[in-house]
Amino acid sequence: MKIIYYSLTGNIARFLSRAGIDAIPLAEVHELHDPFILVTGTFGFGEVPKPVADFLTLHHTFLRGVAVSGNKNFGQNFGKAGDTISAQYNVPLLMKFELHGNEHDSRLFIEKVAELDENTRREKIQSY
Ligand SMILES: Cc1cc2nc3c(=O)[nH]c(=O)nc-3n(C[C@H](O)[C@H](O)[C@H](O)COP(=O)(O)O)c2cc1C
Repeated sequence: MKIIYYSLTGNIARFLSRAGIDAIPLAEVHELHDPFILVTGTFGFGEVPKPVADFLTLHHTFLRGVAVSGNKNFGQNFGKAGDTISAQYNVPLLMKFELHGNEHDSRLFIEKVAELDENTRREKIQSY
């Protein structure tokens, strides 16, 4: 499963690199033919960042899950972009984490990706 991310201020890039995950910045994706998990931050009072919204308009067919970073100081809007994307495209919200996350967040993310990979494989087998 591909991991595609949008990191405006660097937190998500740092989170993924600490987790040892090979991920592709959204701006470097031009063509997409495989399932992916999106990792994004939340900006502008709970909004999905515009580059992410535009990207999903084009590529949502392959979206399998979303993880979101945010800041709890934003209260009700904490990681709200993840809730919005999950509801709009009917994919699981794998997790919310604060800023660049911590060790526990990294482990959880790795587990969630593995779970989703396993489910996708099982669905493929069942559809034969
Ligand atoms: C202008 C601005 C607005 C933000 N708005 C929100 C918000 O509404 N909700 C939230 O949970 N986090 C918000 N954040 C926090 C970011 O989502 C958080 O710092 C995230 O880790 C950014 O990821 P990045 O550094 O990879 O871009 C905001 C940050 C900035 C700079």
